[in-house]
Formats: sequence, structure tokens, C-alpha cells
Amino acid sequence: MLKDEDRIFTNIYGMDDRSLAGARKRGQWDGTADIIEKGRDWIIDEMKASGLRGRGGAGFPTGLKWSFMPKESDGRPHYLVINADESEPATCKDREIMRHDPHTLIEGALIASFAMGAHASYIYIRGEFIREREALQAAIDEAYDAGLLGKNAAGTGWDFDLYLHHGAGAYICGEETALLESLEGRKGMPRMKPPFPAGAGLYGCPTTVNNVESIAVVPTILRRGGAWFAGFGRPNNQGTKLFAMTGHVNTPCVIEEEMSMSMREMIEKHGGGIRGGWDNLKAIIPGGASCPVLPKDMCDEAIMDFDWMRENKSSLGTGCMIVMDQNTDVIKAVWRLAKFFKHESCGQCTPCREGTGWMMRVMERLVTGEAEVEEIDMLLSVTKQVEGHTICALGDAAAWPIQGLIRHFRDEIEDRIKYTKSGRISAAVAAE
Ligand code: NAI
Ligand code: SF4
Repeated sequence: MLKDEDRIFTNIYGMDDRSLAGARKRGQWDGTADIIEKGRDWIIDEMKASGLRGRGGAGFPTGLKWSFMPKESDGRPHYLVINADESEPATCKDREIMRHDPHTLIEGALIASFAMGAHASYIYIRGEFIREREALQAAIDEAYDAGLLGKNAAGTGWDFDLYLHHGAGAYICGEETALLESLEGRKGMPRMKPPFPAGAGLYGCPTTVNNVESIAVVPTILRRGGAWFAGFGRPNNQGTKLFAMTGHVNTPCVIEEEMSMSMREMIEKHGGGIRGGWDNLKAIIPGGASCPVLPKDMCDEAIMDFDWMRENKSSLGTGCMIVMDQNTDVIKAVWRLAKFFKHESCGQCTPCREGTGWMMRVMERLVTGEAEVEEIDMLLSVTKQVEGHTICALGDAAAWPIQGLIRHFRDEIEDRIKYTKSGRISAAVAAE
């Protein structure tokens, strides 16, 4: 379990003063110019040494991503874009950073931008995050007034401007290229990759898109050293991270913990355990809607890191768990996710536009038990035709929870169909 002195987010519960004065008391903005003085290569090498993997859900190594940015300018400006469009169901960790510890993000934006040769950075914040954007804007204003942003930001000799851009509530604008389209004033529709943003991103210029948490941890990593951060967790899964738990835990929360902790330990230590005790657990979705659900017997063994989840056909995603006890209709829960993805598909590519509606409609029939047993395999085959055949990851995200449901809860689906067909339960009751 992480010790208090090892926490990066010292005000995650909002108990302390989030203003610049409070942030400085907690050690933020301490020696920023000294870090920058060490130069771009040192910063990127230290970030690589830290082992930090992107905290938005995909887990791409942050230092490596930064190293894709051209070292020399070809006349085009470079940009850092910070993805604060946090919209993954059950995910609310970046929100806490922006609410309670906004200066970690602002200081990180300056250092990361310097390392990538960017004089401007945009934070694209989810439209519904009204309090968060107020808190963040107030912190940005304070930072300008204190000379931490703008010309010669924080006495570093680097000119740096930071802009806050409000989204309008579309989930797809959290996909990095749809976000860039939206920032440029167009409809938020994902672009084909490659080219990746480092080659052609915002306004066709070299751009790196990073998640809020990935940027907010940068100053502390550089102050304490990459090796310090890499000392937590298992190889390839290092560092501390914000995790969250919602649903049927006794105390839903967002917490900072070290990577690779057991799922059970994390829930018992921070979430007050499962409602009704661990044996009352039915299933957990480990890190947002796109992650395949894990049944209780796998949760008994699960480790909260990228590799364990991948090896067990799920994904860590954002590390924000949806916990379901024995009273949960897991088929209906996955149908609800299918409905969400259908609603949020941008409609640009056929397998996703048509497939999400198709999957949702079959899921609906599984919930009521009105489907035929053969439809289970047909649904599985539809998910395989969507997966990997779309422009962005939303198609995969829509397919995976259904695959997970069929993999682990096929018996329950079949029982429902048989039970409904036997007339022992009406479709309307099954849908309750
Ligand atoms: P991705 O794996 O395609 O890319 C991750 C990052 O690595 C991107 O910035 C991409 O540009 C970069 N990258 C990947 N391959 C590269 C290469 N060969 N060269 C250069 N750069 C490369 O994943 P994506 O689509 O960005 O994100 C999907 C994840 O987002 C999902 O796993 C999901 O967990 C998460 N997500 C999080 C949400 C949230 O609210 N935090 C919302 C929705 C999804
Ligand atoms: Fe749009 Fe879906 Fe295609 Fe992504 S996969 S580009 S959301 S239609």
C-alpha cells in the first residue's frame, strides 16, 4: 500500500487549499526552472526511465510518445494537447485533479511542452465539467498573474501559453483525433491513423495528445526522479496511479495507489469492501465501459495493472472499476453499455455505425430472454466483425464488453432464454 509521503496528488480529496498558495505549500512549482534547465533530452530520458504509461486508458509509454515529436522545428509550431474530455462511464479521476489539484496539471503542461518544443498547449475539457473548468481557469489566471505562464514562464526563459477549450458533451471527442478536429472547429470525427499526431496533429502541426493524469504526474516524477516512480508496481506496469471504484462497494472513491496491487486488496482497503461481503461479488468491469467484465473467481486473483488484465483478456483502461454484486443483472448492465456505444458512435464507418445498433438490439433480446440460444454465437460473430475493422477504438470498445459477457456468463444468458421460453417468467419480468 502506498505511503502518504509517496503520493503525488496530495489534495485529491479536496481537504486542502487548491489555490496557488496552497499548491506551493504542497511543493508544487518548486524548482520548475531548474528542471527545465536540464534540457529536453534529460526530461524525455527521465520520463522513459519512469516507465509511465499513458493514464487515459491505452497505456502507451509517455516518454516514447514525447520522443516522436520532431527535435527541430521545420517552421510549423508544435503543440501539446491535454485530453480532459474524461467521459468513460465510471471514470472520474481526472475530474478530481482539475477540481482539487489544478496546479499539478498546469506545471506539468509547461514542462511537457518545453520538452516537446511547444509554446502553446490546449486543455480540451469535457463540456459537462463546469466546476472543474472554473477551478482550472482560476488556477490558469493565477499562474499568469504570478508569471508562471506567459512570457518567460516561471523564469525558465520559455514563452508558454495555456488555453482551456470547452467540449460540448460528445464522448467521441475524447478520441484524440476527433478531439483535434473539434478543437479546429469541425465536427468531432476521428481521423485515420497514421499519420499519428506527432507527424500531423493540430492544424497539421506536430502535436502530442496526453491525458490529464499523465501530464499532472510529470513535475513530481522529475523532482523525485524516474527511478523513484519506476520503483512502484511490476516491470512494465510501474508507478502510482489514480484508481476509482463505483457501484456496489461500501465507500465509492477515487484514490492514488501503486500499480499492480491486487484488486481485492484495493477494494477492501479503500472501498470498504463489497456490499454484503466479498462473497456477494458477482463481477467487476476493471477500467471503464470498454473493458471486458471479469467474474468473481477472476476478481479473486486479479492484479490491477496493464499486463495482468491483457493476459486475462480484459484491460486496465482507466483503472476506474464498476463493481457489481450478486443482485446485479449483468446481462442488462452490458446491454446498457451497448446502448451507450450505439448512441456515441459518430457514424463515420459502417461496421461501427451498423454494428453498434445490431449488437444493442440482440443484447436487448438477451435481456428479455426472447432471443434464440443460437443468437448468442451470432452476436459473438458480429462483435468479431466490428472489432479491428473501424477507424477508431470505439468499435472495439463496443465489441469487447459483449465478448466478455458471453465468455464468462454464457450459462446465465442461456438459462434466461430457457426460463423465459418455458413460460415460467414473462419477458416483461425478465426485463425488470
Ligand atoms: P491507441 O492505443 O490507439 O493509442 C494510444 C496513444 O498512443 C495515442 O496517443 C496514439 O497516437 C499513440 N500511438 C499508438 N501507436 C502509435 C504509433 N505506432 N506511433 C505513434 N503513436 C502511437 O488508443 P486510443 O484510441 O488513443 O485510446 C483508446 C483507449 O482510450 C481505450 O483503451 C480506453 O480505455 C481509453 N478511453 C478513455 C476514456 C476516458 O474517459 N479516459 C474514454 C474513452 C476511451
Ligand atoms: Fe466513428 Fe465508430 Fe468509426 Fe470511430 S469506429 S470513427 S466512432 S463510426
